[in-house]
Amino acid sequence: MPYNRQLLALLADGGFHSGAALAHTLGVSRSAVWKAVHALSAHGVEVYAVPGRGYRLPAPLELLHGDTILAQLSPRARRMLDGLEVHDELDSTSQHLLRNAAAWPGVHACLAERQTAGRGRRGRAWLSPLGHNIYLSVLWRFEQSPASLGGLSLAAGVAVAQVLRALGVQGLGLKWPNDVVWQGRKLAGILLDLNGEASGPCSVVTGVGLNVMMPQTQGALIDQPWTDLNTILGAPVLRNRCAGRLLERLIVTFDEYARNGLAPFLEPWRAFDTLTGKTVRLQWPQGSATGRVQGVREDGALRLSVNGVMRYYNYGEVSVREAS
Ligand code: BTN
Repeated sequence: MPYNRQLLALLADGGFHSGAALAHTLGVSRSAVWKAVHALSAHGVEVYAVPGRGYRLPAPLELLHGDTILAQLSPRARRMLDGLEVHDELDSTSQHLLRNAAAWPGVHACLAERQTAGRGRRGRAWLSPLGHNIYLSVLWRFEQSPASLGGLSLAAGVAVAQVLRALGVQGLGLKWPNDVVWQGRKLAGILLDLNGEASGPCSVVTGVGLNVMMPQTQGALIDQPWTDLNTILGAPVLRNRCAGRLLERLIVTFDEYARNGLAPFLEPWRAFDTLTGKTVRLQWPQGSATGRVQGVREDGALRLSVNGVMRYYNYGEVSVREAS
């Protein structure tokens, strides 16, 4: 079911709007307004309806605007970016870039107010309600082979964590390879899709999902502890500014990774690492291992001491077994 962006834009100031005024501005009947309000609710936007006063959102909401996001970019990042799209709705920002990668030779980025089939790691869904969070994907071309891009997901995690720290979030951590967590709760997730020949080049779509203001009704559907930026900071976050800074940092990070690989990101990654010293279970489709985390190798692989033997893992899902 599509939503009415114009209606959302009118309600975005957080003030009351009477059904009659909305109907007049939108050029539709009051019952059409009522239906459109219900469609917004169905997409995760809470709308209060108060008899005699009209409709309002619980709090003001900032819709995404490409120009405002681009204005956050440094001239250097701006030069490297060939295109930015902001969509009202997509199945998935990453899928959109993957579908169009062949037609777009350069670097492209895309955001959506809502995803109907947001993808998380390991085939999970990424809950993507309308207008509250950030769903951002960036398509980048690397000359390197996919094999030498193993550390890229750690570098992307560092980029996101650095932006959030600069926005004032204290006590952020990274859970290998790149879950952004705060007090054990997931704040942002990152998904990389790599496509290329074994000898290179390789195009990579990096998708970032950042919880900015997750509606409680939607948050209740998430099957792991989560948090959002507004809760942590205790104040509303400007989504365009935040999206612009994320895009800037990802562009600069990918450019640096293309030149110098993971090396420049290892120290910052270690500073955000939440797992070293902990006993974890690592699971992958064919098996699992339990051991104590000993940091990461130069290529980003997880170092796990399993029954006294050091082992290295390039992928898998980590769960912490016990406080240690
Ligand atoms: C994870 O499971 O931790 C990764 C979540 C990645 C979600 C983002 S939202 C933007 C982009 N589009 C998607 O469909 N997924 C990624």
